[in-house]
This record gives sequence, structure tokens and C-alpha cells, in this order.
Amino acid sequence: MSPARSLSGVPEPVTVRVHGKINLALQVHPRRPDGFHELATVLQSVSLSDEVTAVPAKGLGVLVRGDGADAVPAGPDNLAARAAIALAAQVGVCADVRLEIVKGIPVAGGMAGGSADAAAALVACDALWGTGCDRAELTAIAATLGSDVPFCLRGGTQYGTGRGELLSDALARGTYHWVVAVATGGLSTPAVYAAFDQMGAAPGPPPDAVLAALRRGDAPALGQALTNDLQLAALRLLPALRRTVEAGRELGALGTLVSGSGPTVAMLAADRADQTRIAVELSGLGVCRAVRTATGPVAGARIV
Ligand code: C5P
Repeated sequence: MSPARSLSGVPEPVTVRVHGKINLALQVHPRRPDGFHELATVLQSVSLSDEVTAVPAKGLGVLVRGDGADAVPAGPDNLAARAAIALAAQVGVCADVRLEIVKGIPVAGGMAGGSADAAAALVACDALWGTGCDRAELTAIAATLGSDVPFCLRGGTQYGTGRGELLSDALARGTYHWVVAVATGGLSTPAVYAAFDQMGAAPGPPPDAVLAALRRGDAPALGQALTNDLQLAALRLLPALRRTVEAGRELGALGTLVSGSGPTVAMLAADRADQTRIAVELSGLGVCRAVRTATGPVAGARIV
């Protein structure tokens, strides 16, 4: 624990909005000695968001509302609660806060919903307690909480290496229009990585084609280049997803892929009108629990 700092927090609730992500490229290398897989990935934050409000309180509490809230732990296992505890330990204060989370990012969907809440909790508690941590300090704490937490803090379009936590800005022109197929139920990220190991597949293509398409703002080329080494593992664990991925192709999406470890499926549309068309037609096919539309890139965790 660092020495206690002089704090200048505001004794009023602080609300932070944070976005989910889609991996536009996800190249997975063999498992490292520390149990994580070395990645080369491109992440884009998209406009499906959660809100986390840090309310002054005695002790630590978590309240979760919104779609899929029942499946989110409300105790100390909650990633946002762990973020508050980690920040409090870092600056030498008690983790006195009630975290009210409103879910809009699919739960256990491969869109970093839990990581997003952790990133939002860091920003919200930092403001509530007036810890005065800068972004670099928050990012260092974020990386201890989960591989995707630093990205959720930062947002935008990023190239990620290491276990996904080492980030650099990817030059991305334009706005991308996504249709998101939310599956019934979730997939466990460790289970998907374990299935990937069992399948013994070699790493797929590096993210070069995705990065080149983003630099040009070329949505059709991006659609062609989308790649996810975890997709086959997710399909093995949830074979019904195959039909959802096929639907994207049948409906003429520029590209379709499982998002991260799944089971959410992301479809890239040519423009806003095409996005609406695909969303409406996909809803009629009955191949997923819910259909959402989203644009990207959008910002990281921000106070609203
Ligand atoms: O970092 P995070 O806590 O989100 O990771 C959850 C799990 O996903 C890890 O415990 C590990 O099993 C798996 N994982 C991995 N390689 C990565 C990221 C996650 O094997 N690069």
C-alpha cells in the first residue's frame, strides 16, 4: 500500500459511462508460463455502454441492474468491486463506496462487459475519493484487474499485445456500423481459451490487413480482414452460434465474426442504412436472443 495521499473528493455520486469492445483481429499464440496467451489484437470500443455510479457509503456495496444483471456477481467477486478495493489499497483509503451498475453491454458476451465496469469504477472512485491518480496510475491498476481493463479505460481503436493489456493507438479513419447478435447465455473466457488449447490450432493471420483497412477507412476491406482465432473454440462450445455467423453472411454483412471469446457475434454493415436493414432482417431469423446496433470507435471510460 502506498502512503496515504491528501484527498479532495466530492461527497456526491459520480457516474461514469464506459463502452464494450469488439476484437477486429485476435491472433492467439500458445499459452505462456503464467497461464495467459500472448496476443496480437486490434480492439475497437463500440457504443454499447454500461454506467457505473459511485455513491458515498460506509463500506463497499454493489448493485447491478439492466439486461443480464442476474448473472453478474454482486459481491466482492464483482470486477468493479475489485477495482475499488485495488484503488483504495493503492492510495491508502478505505473502500467506502456503493457501486451502482446499469448493464447495457451483453453479460459474459465477449465484449468486455466486466472489464468495462472495472475501468468505470476506477474512474468513478478516483473522482469520488479525490485520489488524484493520473491515467498512467489508473492504467497500471487496471492491468492487474484483467487483460481488457486498460483498453476499456482508454477506448478508441487500439493495437494490443502481451495478454491484451499493452496498447498503442491504431490509426483508424471513419466510423464503423455494427450489428450485434446477443446470444442466449454466456461463455466463460477461460473455458474458450482452454478449448483453443485442446484444439491445438496454430495462430491465424496477424492483424496487418485489419490495421491497413482501418488506416484507409475502408469498411469493405475491414469486413474481409476481420479475424478471430478464438472463433472455432467458441463454436465448438456453443455449436448453435454457427447459424448466427452464417446469418451474417446470408444477410450480406461486409464481415461477420464472434467477438473475443464470444458468444456475441458482430456483423459489419456498409453504412447506417445497411446496418438498420441487417438488424431488422436478423431479428426475423430467430438465431439470437437480441439484436443491437452500435457504432465505433467511441471513447473510453468518462464521467458523465
Ligand atoms: O485477463 P482476464 O482476467 O480477463 O482473463 C481471464 C482468463 O482468460 C484468464 O484467466 C485466462 O484463462 C484467459 N486469458 C488467456 N490469455 C489472455 C487473456 C485471457 O488465456 N491473453
